[in-house]
Amino acid sequence: MDTPHPAEPSADQRASNTVTAVVGLAVAALVLVFLFNTNVFASNWYAFFKWVHVTGAVLWVGGGLTLTILALKAERSSEPAEMAMIARQAAFVGERVFAPVGLLVLLAGIGMVANLHLGFGTSWIVLGLVGYAITFLTGLLVLGPQAKRIGHLIETVGAEAAETQAAIKRILLIARVDEGVLLLVVAAMILKPFT
Ligand code: HEM
Repeated sequence: MDTPHPAEPSADQRASNTVTAVVGLAVAALVLVFLFNTNVFASNWYAFFKWVHVTGAVLWVGGGLTLTILALKAERSSEPAEMAMIARQAAFVGERVFAPVGLLVLLAGIGMVANLHLGFGTSWIVLGLVGYAITFLTGLLVLGPQAKRIGHLIETVGAEAAETQAAIKRILLIARVDEGVLLLVVAAMILKPFT
């Protein structure tokens, strides 16, 4: 009897993967060139941490903002299937992308503070740490469990059920408040108030 083989990637898929890999490598190589040719930072380590921190923040906050815009559009269209799709995609990127990237942003932030001997009591750093704690706890205690509940509701009662739609609206609303917290942290990082 033949053993089933996992599906081979198609030619289109292989071409797409190659382009992704080439773009990724080209960006990484040029970032390294920039990193070793900048003179505006205290050290190369600081420059590296800052690059990781700000690039991660762009991905995390920008990705969240895009989802918020798509969620607002879905809410206005009153299409249950579109709402369910946004909720599913938000749950996926929240768990697989934003959570690990958020951790990198925190670690690189700590790296910069240590590197510059800034002190963790500096007002805008306290705002960053408090903002991170709020968004981390919201993800762990509210968004994560609610996303699992919605997945279960979609499978059992369906995406169109009133209970599912109410749960989706609630989670998207909480995610919007969470995005507001992140935007405030970005403002605190840039403007450094109360210093
Ligand atoms: C919610 C998470 C955070 C986000 C979205 C975020 C975002 C940013 C952004 C966009 C910048 C660039 C600002 C600029 O260059 O003008 C920045 C800089 C910085 N952040 Fe954060 N940050 C976060 C959390 C933290 C935390 C928790 C710390 C410290 C432990 C921290 C430490 C720093 C430091 C030291 C800089 C460099 C400031 C400078 O060079 O002027 N950040 N952050």
